[in-house]
Parts: sequence; C-alpha cells; structure tokens
Amino acid sequence: MYEVVQFIHSYWAYLVLFMLLIASFNAIIGFVTNKEYGSTNFQIALFTLIVSHIQLLIGIVLYFSAPYFKMWAEEGMGGVMSDSTLRLYNVEHPLMMIIAIALITIGYSKHKKKLTSKPKFKTLAIFYTLALIVVLSRIPWSAWF
Ligand code: HEM
Repeated sequence: MYEVVQFIHSYWAYLVLFMLLIASFNAIIGFVTNKEYGSTNFQIALFTLIVSHIQLLIGIVLYFSAPYFKMWAEEGMGGVMSDSTLRLYNVEHPLMMIIAIALITIGYSKHKKKLTSKPKFKTLAIFYTLALIVVLSRIPWSAWF
C-alpha cells in the first residue's frame, strides 16, 4: 500500500509542477502583454487546481501510511523536530504543500470573480507564482531524483 501510494505521489508531482509552471507563466505573459482572457486560460487554471487537489489527497493518504508518521509515537515532538529528515516529511513538506494548494485555490476562486482580462491574469499570476515558489522550496529534491 505505502509503496504504491509513494510511487503515485512521486510521479503525480511531475504533473503538478509542470502545470503550475505553465499556469504561472501563462498568467504572467497574459498580464504583461494585455492578452484577452479566453477559454484556454481558464482550462489551464482549472486543470492546475484539479491536479494539485488530487496531489493533496494522495499526500494525505501517503502521510499516514509512510514510516515517518510512526516516528511521532516513537520519537515524540522533540525527536521529530530535531531530526531534519523527519521534520521535512512530517511537518515542513506537508504544511508548505497545503499552503501552496490553498494559494492555488484562493487564486483560482478570486480570478473567477474578476470581470475583465487584466485583473484575472494579475490574480492568477500572483497566487499561482507564490504557490510555485512555496512548492519549490519544500520538495524533497534529493529523494525525488
Ligand atoms: C503540491 C503538492 C505536493 C507535491 C508537488 C509533492 C511532491 C512530493 C515529492 C516530489 C516527494 C518525493 C517523492 C519521492 O521520494 O520519490 C514527496 C514526498 C512526500 N510527500 Fe509530498 N507533495 C505534495 C503534497 C503533499 C501533501 C499535501 C502531503 C501530506 C499531507 C505530502 C506528503 C508527503 C510525504 C509523507 C512524502 C514522503 C514519502 C516517502 O518517501 O515515504 N505531500 N512529495
């Protein structure tokens, strides 16, 4: 069970990162070049929201099935926080990824309420780019590659 979920989470992360990059660049370019917001822009923003929410669900299942989680009981709060690997997988990575997905969700729903192209692109550019930075900051790069 754990290995399967870890495998899916590991490969789904490529899709999340790819979509977040595309969506952020698309929003920045749309904003800077004063492009007209169309259905493709909407689909990119929506697909990024969907794939990140799926990753959140996979991540929650992984969190409770991973061996790191059992260390809360074995090591306690002090033990987990003083070990950089345990702290990353049990606290930093999940917390930062949840913040990133919250940013995507807020950005998506705020941009939908805007009526014209420029504010739509601006909202997406700000929230999706911030989310991208947060994701990049706490991906376990050494374990991933
Ligand atoms: C944008 C969302 C997320 C991305 C892009 C992401 C990405 C990744 C990546 C690339 C890894 C390393 C995989 C490997 O070792 O091959 C990983 C590991 C892990 N992630 Fe996430 N993650 C996300 C969200 C979450 C969330 C929300 C949780 C928990 C609530 C979570 C829990 C974990 C855990 C526990 C591991 C360690 C798995 C292990 O090696 O045993 N992730 N994540």
